[in-house]
Amino acid sequence: MSIKISPSILSADFANLGHEIRAIEEAGCDWVHVDVMDGHFVPNLTIGPGVCKAIRPHIKTVMDVHLMIEPADPFRKAFAEAGADNISIHPEVHPHLDRSLQVIRDLGCKAGVALNPSTPVNILENVMDRLDMIIVMSVNPGFGGQSFLHSQIQKIRALKAMIGDRDILIEVDGGITPTTAPLVAEAGADVLVAGSAVYGKGGQETSVYAANIKAIREAGEAAQS
Ligand code: DX5
Ligand code: ZN
Repeated sequence: MSIKISPSILSADFANLGHEIRAIEEAGCDWVHVDVMDGHFVPNLTIGPGVCKAIRPHIKTVMDVHLMIEPADPFRKAFAEAGADNISIHPEVHPHLDRSLQVIRDLGCKAGVALNPSTPVNILENVMDRLDMIIVMSVNPGFGGQSFLHSQIQKIRALKAMIGDRDILIEVDGGITPTTAPLVAEAGADVLVAGSAVYGKGGQETSVYAANIKAIREAGEAAQS
């Protein structure tokens, strides 16, 4: 199966987001990953629904929105209206996870959860049928450019077994490079998020982004079981 690459625009040149998004799509990415942070659930502040709405016309593929905000429920509708295709939330801050996921689907979006490195997979046991994707955080969320946590490989394997024949994608987010991509692909990852390994510091030629995407994808696909 082919591996999808979802570059995180967190590492893009924020002064030229439209251009940076068009460049990664021309470079062959599958999705565009948007990291939304609130300075409360995670120690960083990024972008909100207004920026999502502004970049939407530049995205031809899939707007893959990762909400690292607490609370997220009051903002789901705004991100859906801003054009999100996928909305992923963190179960660590959603006591009514079943309902939250149901609402995301009712808004017309694919529903996902993102698990912090310390969050066990069994938190999802009773909501599996509400999920379109599961993001395994392979760094503690908040910043790009952190080192991959090898402890999360076993979690990917456990999720793969839990998913069985359900139509749920496993997305891995954090520290993905051509070196770590094979480790997660072999364990069962379907979608790889990569910020710094695609964009570097941002503002580079499309050909550089294409080479970076290709290197991650090929390394991952070569290791798929
Ligand atoms: C981390 C974010 C990631 C991050 C990935 O909180 O959710 O999407 O930007 O960046 P890299 O690939 O640089 O680890
Ligand atoms: Zn993310």
